[in-house]
Amino acid sequence: MRCGLKIIKGIYFFDALRLIQDPMLPEIHISGNPSKRLSSFFEDSHYSKVLTLVDKNALGAMLQTLEKAQLGKVMPLVINEQNKNLKFCEKLWEKFSDLKMDRKSLIILVGGGVLGDLGGFAASNFKRGVDFVNIPTTLLSMTDSTIGGKQGINFQGLKNQIGSFAHPKLILVEPKFLKALPDEEIFNGYAEILKHAAIRDREFFFDLNLSPDQILDWEPILERSIGIKVSVVEEDPKEEGLRKILNFGHTFGHAMETYFIKRNQAKSHGYCVAIGMLVESSIAHTKGILEKEELKTFSNKILRNYDLPSMDREDLFEIFGNMRHDKKNEQGKILMSFMTSIGEATFNNEISESDFWNGIEIFQDLKNFSS
Ligand SMILES: NC(=O)c1ccc[n+]([C@@H]2O[C@H](COP(=O)([O-])OP(=O)(O)OC[C@H]3O[C@@H](n4cnc5c(N)ncnc54)[C@H](O)[C@@H]3O)[C@@H](O)[C@H]2O)c1
Repeated sequence: MRCGLKIIKGIYFFDALRLIQDPMLPEIHISGNPSKRLSSFFEDSHYSKVLTLVDKNALGAMLQTLEKAQLGKVMPLVINEQNKNLKFCEKLWEKFSDLKMDRKSLIILVGGGVLGDLGGFAASNFKRGVDFVNIPTTLLSMTDSTIGGKQGINFQGLKNQIGSFAHPKLILVEPKFLKALPDEEIFNGYAEILKHAAIRDREFFFDLNLSPDQILDWEPILERSIGIKVSVVEEDPKEEGLRKILNFGHTFGHAMETYFIKRNQAKSHGYCVAIGMLVESSIAHTKGILEKEELKTFSNKILRNYDLPSMDREDLFEIFGNMRHDKKNEQGKILMSFMTSIGEATFNNEISESDFWNGIEIFQDLKNFSS
């Protein structure tokens, strides 16, 4: 496996060198026995209080999968993208205070990317940071949001505008949770898996042939996808360079997601990323960065799994406006990460408004273009 990653019986460890440089990086366990793993975690660390925040929709699966785990007080939450905000975070901090949680407390987060982002942000800022453990329950959170130490909340209607870097103490990825996940959410997470393959591993991209709702064994796919994310994060933990390639599809994707959140018609993050990858690849093509055949092959696979949204010129104007707030922008310039060929990517590509509209022309004709 690339970049010094070691897999030991389905367990990922950051390599020894990395551990010496940054002992804070977590172990990621895939398909171990999560209850048993939690028990041994508690044998090594002593906490004054344990609070488990669980997405209410994952509660049933949690009770089955983590049957004998030490979870402390369990607090189910009704949570979604619309309440991934400061108000909800404040409610969590009030709860932590009411429960008299101190710096030696532990918060276990059992849920998707929204709970992970919000709960991780709340935990890592309460009393300057209490420890937390992530147990992701959606495909997206297993393959992407849990890995890499980014936490955040939406602010003034814009995605992830406030946030921080903080790693959980432990990440337990248990594919059994996916059995309870609706198909729509499987497609949501699959977009980030396709993205990982598209930017780093050509062979993996061509191996991803089944429709995601037909995949029964997620473990090998998760191992490869998580391996890609880990290897990129490991090389550039604070997103100063290479890590920006993980934002492929996200400049347009986040701007589109924001557009739909503002209209109370939230679309899943992964769906927006899938469409974002198509728009951004269309722009890359018009700028001579991505060849036509590569764009065709790539868009064929995306369009097999995701329908194009209907967006008129006015909608696209607003989405372009949202792109001006993207966190990767520097000195007012919109910077994008592009796939240069399937399996390779670049970052910090400046795009102008005319590049955007040229790309949109290709994007709007992709169905004909790809056939
Ligand atoms: N921090 C990062 O690096 C990073 C990376 C990518 C995405 N994100 C963030 O992740 C979020 C999206 O995460 P998500 O797609 O997991 O969304 P989500 O957390 O909203 O979960 C999707 C839906 O699945 C439900 N659910 C969760 N687990 C379930 C289970 N096991 N069974 C049945 N239903 C279940 C949830 O209640 C929700 O309705 C976005 O806010 C995005 O910005 C963060």
